[in-house]
Amino acid sequence: MDQQLQAVTPLSLFPQTAGVNGKGHLALGGCDVTALVTKHGTPLYILDETTIRGKCREYRREFTQRYPNTQVIYACKAFINPALAIVLQEEGLGLDVVSAGEIAVARSVAFPSDKIYFHGNNKGQEELSLALEQRIGRIVVDNFHELGLLTALTKEKGLVQDILLRISPSVDPHTHKYVTTGVLDSKFGLPLATGQAEEALSQAVAAPNLNVLGLHFHLGSSIFEASPYVEAIELTLRFAVQMKQKYGFRLAELNVGGGFAAQYQLDSPPPPTAEYAQAIVSAILNSCDKLALAPPRLIVEPGRGIVAQAGVALYRVGVTKEIPGIRRYVFVDGGMGDNIRPALYGSKYEAVVANKMNKASTDMVTIAGKFCESGDILIKDIRLPDLSENDIIAVPASGAYSLPMASNYNAFLRPAILMVTDGQSRLVRRRETHEDLTRCDLT
Ligand code: LLP
Repeated sequence: MDQQLQAVTPLSLFPQTAGVNGKGHLALGGCDVTALVTKHGTPLYILDETTIRGKCREYRREFTQRYPNTQVIYACKAFINPALAIVLQEEGLGLDVVSAGEIAVARSVAFPSDKIYFHGNNKGQEELSLALEQRIGRIVVDNFHELGLLTALTKEKGLVQDILLRISPSVDPHTHKYVTTGVLDSKFGLPLATGQAEEALSQAVAAPNLNVLGLHFHLGSSIFEASPYVEAIELTLRFAVQMKQKYGFRLAELNVGGGFAAQYQLDSPPPPTAEYAQAIVSAILNSCDKLALAPPRLIVEPGRGIVAQAGVALYRVGVTKEIPGIRRYVFVDGGMGDNIRPALYGSKYEAVVANKMNKASTDMVTIAGKFCESGDILIKDIRLPDLSENDIIAVPASGAYSLPMASNYNAFLRPAILMVTDGQSRLVRRRETHEDLTRCDLT
């Protein structure tokens, strides 16, 4: 591929194996994307296994080379299915789950329970019982109600459970307010500032069947700065020392959450993983040194950082609507049902035309979906090559939070998912059928 083409196509946002083949088509994992679409239809999501494995290794390497006692766990909410869980297990990651459903997906491939961390702000008695019976590695306690339930359930079952307490450190990570979690006015976690974190910790250390291994915070998602992590670590470690003095609490584990940004647009590159790792590790080592605290085991839980770049969404162009002097809409066969993020957060994406990779981007268009909502716009104002019916639009950075937030709105079918690697592709989720739509219904 020549230099000029690189400059006009956002190929760097695509999976690590992306390229343009001799036919001028987008290739992923050594597979011609237009051939995959011919075989499997659209909308179609492609996951590049090489990129997923590469990201798992990058996170493990960047943290463990600076801080050997690190465990990387993957936040399943970004996307999980059995095929991905197998890859993650092979790469040595643990899992962050938030529901009995995510636990069930993990267990469907015999993912080791002891490497699973169970989060959530409203875990019910049934979910907690299940987690205890399945010997889930850590339950991350979010509130007093859960603490009470767990204290009673562990006693009743005669089990001892390792837990972390999720604290809310009042640190603003400067991201979208829907994905900001570690501020005081948040539904998540036990605030440090109000004394509720201390109250919960004192109760938890006194519960004979709970082993309080450590503390957790998660500041938010798509965080483009490392400094909020540093601030939260300093506050948390200072709290840990006070709790040691007051209640004999020993901080064996510190979970600093996820939230590491991924690149969606050419002009918004996130910091490299190394930069987050360096800031987090230095903050822990400096604070531990200052506070005479033994450095705890570090847990990081990226979701988006592992899968965003690996995923590509493919759509087929249908109708075009030209409003003279105003806008040219190009309609595709997916939209907010498979990717709610533009409508929900105003998220912005780039795109290419997978069957016209060598053509210049001459036309300004707006890519809209086929759902019955005016807000169903995937990309507003993007310059692409001259488009015709049946062209294939490829949207990069689609591996995180599109499919797991997908819906059957308008009774459209949720897409198929292919995993590609080394010139091979395999279906890891079949396209839904009309029978699937009524499978749970009764008359
Ligand atoms: N840990 C906890 C406790 C979390 O709540 C989350 C994400 C993560 C880790 C992983 O965050 P990540 O590394 O993926 O940023 N639907 C939104 C994102 C919601 C994130 C929820 N929690 C989006 O599409 O941007």
